[in-house]
Amino acid sequence: MSLVEEVRRLKEERDAVLLAHNYQLGEVQDVADFVGDSLYLSRQAARTDARVIVFAGVRFMAETAKILSPEKVVLLPDLGAGCSLADAITAEQLRAWKAAHPGAVVVSYVNTSAEVKAESDYCCTSSNAVSIVESLPRDQEILFLPDMFLGDYVRRKTGRTNMHLWVGDCFVHTRMRPETVARRRAEHPGAELVAHPECGCSTEVLPQVDRVLSTDGMLRYAETTRAPEVLIATEVGILHRMRKLNQSTRFIPLSEAAICPFMKKIDLGKVRDSLRDMQHRIDLAPDVIQGARRALERMIAA
Ligand code: 13P
Ligand code: SF4
Repeated sequence: MSLVEEVRRLKEERDAVLLAHNYQLGEVQDVADFVGDSLYLSRQAARTDARVIVFAGVRFMAETAKILSPEKVVLLPDLGAGCSLADAITAEQLRAWKAAHPGAVVVSYVNTSAEVKAESDYCCTSSNAVSIVESLPRDQEILFLPDMFLGDYVRRKTGRTNMHLWVGDCFVHTRMRPETVARRRAEHPGAELVAHPECGCSTEVLPQVDRVLSTDGMLRYAETTRAPEVLIATEVGILHRMRKLNQSTRFIPLSEAAICPFMKKIDLGKVRDSLRDMQHRIDLAPDVIQGARRALERMIAA
C-alpha cells in the first residue's frame, strides 16, 4: 500500500480530518482535506465533525484548533514545528506591556502561543488584521503584537497613530529586504510583485508592491491573474498550489531561500505515523483554553 493510501485509510479509521497550511510540502497538501491560510484552517477546525484533527502546520496553529475545538483530539505530527514569530513574545512580557498601557486593547496576530492569546482581547490573521483594527473606536489605544511589519502595514492602512507595535519578526520573511526586491525586479522587469505583510520589505517598498495579501489571498489572485510573470514574496511552499491553479503565469519566488524549516518538519511519513500512533497530542490547561477562546472567536467571526 502506498503512503498516500495508508494516510487515506488511517484518516477514515480514526475519523480524522487533515488540515494543511499553504506552506506545507506538496505531498502533504495533496492528501489533505483542507489546505489554506491561518484563518481558513481555524474556521475549518472550529466547524469540523471529525473526532480527530491532524494539523500539518506549526504548533500555534494546532493550539488554535484545540482552543476552538477542545473536545477533539488534536495531533501535531512533529513537536519541533514551532514558529520564530510566536516565540517573539511571552505571556509574562505581554502582561508587563499591558501594565505599562492600562486601558489599551491587545490585538495579537494568531502567530502567538496559547498563553499569549489568553492575555489578548482580539486575535487576527494576515487576512483580517486591517478589518479587526478598523472595527475598534479610533480613539482606542491598541497594543499590536508580535509582528512589527504586519503591524506597520496595518497602521499605515488604517492611518492610526495610537497603535503600539511589539518589535518581533518572522526570520523567514524579515530577510526579504528592499535590496532583494530591487535585484529581483531588475532580473524580471515587468513582473508583478505580490507580498505577504510579514515581509521585511513591506514597510520600505510598499508603494512598489502590487498587492499585499495573506497566503490564501495570494492563491485567489494567482488563480485569476493574466500577468505573464509574478514575483511571490512569501514562503516557497505556496508555489505548489499556485502553479497547479494557473499554468499560464510564471510564479517566481522573490527569494528561493524563503523556506520555513518549521513548516518543513512535517512530511507524509510523519502524517502517517501521527495517525497510526495518535501522536503528538496537543493538550492545554483549561484556564488557557477559556482565556484564549474569546479572542479567537472574535478572529474567526471577523
Ligand atoms: P497566513 O495566515 O497568511 O497563511 O500566514 C501564516 C504564516 O505563518 C505566515 O508566515
Ligand atoms: Fe512562523 Fe515565519 Fe514559519 Fe510563518 S514562516 S510559521 S511566521 S517562522
